[in-house]
Amino acid sequence: MKNLYLCGFMGCGKSHMGRMLSERLHCTLVDLDAYIEEKEGMTIPEIFEKYGEPHFRSLEEKYIREMPENSIVATGGGAIINPVTAESARKAGVVVFLDADFELCYKRIKGDTHRPLVMKNTKEQLHELFMKRREIYLAHSEISVNSNAKDTEIMKEIITKAGLK
Ligand code: S3P
Repeated sequence: MKNLYLCGFMGCGKSHMGRMLSERLHCTLVDLDAYIEEKEGMTIPEIFEKYGEPHFRSLEEKYIREMPENSIVATGGGAIINPVTAESARKAGVVVFLDADFELCYKRIKGDTHRPLVMKNTKEQLHELFMKRREIYLAHSEISVNSNAKDTEIMKEIITKAGLK
């Protein structure tokens, strides 16, 4: 099976759908953020604080190339925005955009101290970022699914659109 790279805004359900898909398809789940934290021995907020966001983007660019075969990769919300990272993902598999409404994402992420962008931006700023990024997720992905639906519906749509069943 080709890797599936789940992308979309923070809170759209990438990690959650990743877990469901990996169980259903009997393949490995890799969370790119967790992978980076392990490799670097630092948390995401520590990386942002110490080295800044551009450095974090270069780590995403580097580590996405290390994802094992036959896996579902839950990327971080900004990873696939970077054209280089997106290109690596498309080469190794299928990029799937989880298209969820801003209010749904925001409800899940507000006040999260583990997400630096949530900590340093207002709701209005995050909405602006969401609108800008949505166009880029659409452009950089091969499949997009309505992610406001029920989990089982989202999973079915991904499996069908990716031609896995
Ligand atoms: C980010 C999203 C986060 C994490 C980092 C930056 C972003 O991942 O990679 O905090 O730029 O949207 P999640 O989408 O899993 O929250």
